[in-house]
Amino acid sequence: FAFTPANLEWAQAQITKYPVGRQASAIIPLLFRAQEQEGWLSRPAIETVAEMLDMPYMRALEVATFYFMFQLAPVGSVAHLQICGTTSCMICGAEDLMKVCREKISAEPHTLSADGKFSWEEVECLGACANAPMMQVGKDYYEDLTEERLAEILDEMAVGNVPQPGSQTGRFSSEPLSGLT
Ligand code: FES
Repeated sequence: FAFTPANLEWAQAQITKYPVGRQASAIIPLLFRAQEQEGWLSRPAIETVAEMLDMPYMRALEVATFYFMFQLAPVGSVAHLQICGTTSCMICGAEDLMKVCREKISAEPHTLSADGKFSWEEVECLGACANAPMMQVGKDYYEDLTEERLAEILDEMAVGNVPQPGSQTGRFSSEPLSGLT
């Protein structure tokens, strides 16, 4: 693994933000940039970042495995679905969404679909509990999901469309609930 020249310049600029001897503080932005470049974090990518920050590979791996925004296996070329499985989403149907993922993508999380287009995983609360159940795809949230809507979203994405993110029912969590005002 090697950063592109532009990413290398950016990474070196991040490192200079920290005092000498504290370069390891730049690990999260560097790992994130490596993931943006490759789509996921391979062992060589983590090794490269560790070397640039003068820290042991094992310490870099500890960071990469701690945060679920880092992907340690290849992700779908079209989309990697992060399904929230925490309390609100669990109560409102997260299991149904994961059933769709198992049927339409792969039986196991962190595994590519047969065509390589999709992958999925269960994640912890993403802070959109008011519009549960929901998922994150890249930087987008898809909220108020149903099994049917998730299946449609996957079909739309598979042919190159980008479904409108946000609430899939048009509801917004910032709107006051009737009876509570
Ligand atoms: Fe799913 Fe908070 S419980 S977003």
